[in-house]
Amino acid sequence: MFDFGLIDRTDISGEAPAEEPARQYYFMKKCRLWAQEEEKKLGRKLTLSMQTMGCQMNARDSEKLEAILAFIGYEAVDEAAADFILYNTCTVRENANLKVYGRLGYMKNQKKKNPRMKIAMCGCMMQELSVVEKIKKSYPFVDMIFGTHNVYKLAEIFYTHLQSERMVLDVWKEAEGIVEDLPSVRKFPFKAGVNIMYGCNNFCSYCIVPYVRGRERSRQPEEILREVRELAADGVVEVMLLGQNVNSYGNTLEADVNFAQLLREVEKTDGLERIRFMTSHPKDLSEELIDVMAGSTKICSHLHLPIQSGSTRILREMNRRYTKEDYLNLVARIRERMPDISLTTDLIVGFPGETEEDFLETLDVVRRVRYDSVYSFIYSRRTGTPAAAMEGQVPEEVAKGRFQRLLEAIRNISKEITEEQVGREAEALMEEINGHDPSLVTGRLSSNAVVHCKGTPACIGKICRVRLTESRGFYFMGEIV
Ligand code: SAH
Ligand code: SF4
Ligand code: F3S
Repeated sequence: MFDFGLIDRTDISGEAPAEEPARQYYFMKKCRLWAQEEEKKLGRKLTLSMQTMGCQMNARDSEKLEAILAFIGYEAVDEAAADFILYNTCTVRENANLKVYGRLGYMKNQKKKNPRMKIAMCGCMMQELSVVEKIKKSYPFVDMIFGTHNVYKLAEIFYTHLQSERMVLDVWKEAEGIVEDLPSVRKFPFKAGVNIMYGCNNFCSYCIVPYVRGRERSRQPEEILREVRELAADGVVEVMLLGQNVNSYGNTLEADVNFAQLLREVEKTDGLERIRFMTSHPKDLSEELIDVMAGSTKICSHLHLPIQSGSTRILREMNRRYTKEDYLNLVARIRERMPDISLTTDLIVGFPGETEEDFLETLDVVRRVRYDSVYSFIYSRRTGTPAAAMEGQVPEEVAKGRFQRLLEAIRNISKEITEEQVGREAEALMEEINGHDPSLVTGRLSSNAVVHCKGTPACIGKICRVRLTESRGFYFMGEIV
């Protein structure tokens, strides 16, 4: 969908242009000349290994980064070692950070074996000063460090590194605006993520995202619609609209547009068959959105509605700005209009000050709502967030015990829900050949549940009618009818 010819036509004889994205095309072409020389020396293509951690936002950024590197001349491979190693990091919980340091320790030896190897670190972790300090001190062999606000500048950062042969550090505190029209690759030809907004203004007290992703910024509706139309014309049948809180889409724009209205426009796209979105904050979910969803034929029958805790007292401490009752009322209103909708959520156990009673409130909500699936996390203390300084940090064993009890409850409910659906027919978008058994294809129902069916590669990318023949707890076995 991106015209690489645009870069080919870029003139690099003079100075780099000041305006974006032309400036980046200039540096991509400069780096490409260097890469072609490298290829000649090595007698082979240059390889790229990308490791993407965290959420859909990072996954989407990685598609943009991969496109820049592909243009320069790097071919993505599945191995951990390559000529270019890029870590797109997440810092939402501590264990994500520990994994990155582990990998860097391993890369030290790899780089000794292949001194031409380039190592770049980006993503949310790099927005933290303490992380950058640690990398500079303990992992000085890293070649490039950049953050979440200047992903589009990779070629320029790379070129600066090639000139200096030193570590280039380019992390911005805040974004300078949204750069459109950069190249991007797509992991799947038939489905794609589309950013509709960046950043977050909610400052939930446990969460580091607003600090590392900056303030909320919405893309212009025309830009989003243009991207969706181009994707659909290029064979994409399912789009996932992405934002940390899609329900506040438009708040930062001059144009009078909200998320429900945007969805109405996206729905009109010819060729597009399915629309998903992530994530919805319960406090901003409007009646208008419920109307649009209920009346839509393309919006999937699934809503991810993170609750985080079932205790109103803890929700207040979390700065979520709704009560247990508000949430349950919202769920009731949604189900009244869409009785079959699949609901999923995120939950944190062990938030500071959480008592056994608070935890029982969480279990109560899980049992009442009967989620199709739940992403549950043990609270992780993030330096700089208000919750990190709160009294009553819950001991690890207590949090782990609650976590296990929560998982048990969720497992039982998911099992019951999937069993109830056995025998039904539904539409599934077939996404890939099953990794364990190549006679099976794996697809997703509108509810987002996974189904495995006997099928051929010809099914991939198609929406097929399937009969659900067996429940396996969290997923289904089925047959194409
Ligand atoms: N914007 C989304 C969430 C993004 S982070 C929303 O508001 O729903 C994804 C999930 O990580 C959150 O929903 C939360 O459940 C979890 N999370 C965030 N910070 C956390 C922390 N400090 N410890 C444990 N889990 C956390
Ligand atoms: Fe974090 Fe809350 Fe923003 Fe979600 S809404 S990204 S949990 S601050
Ligand atoms: Fe992680 Fe950043 Fe997403 S911290 S969850 S990758 S926004």
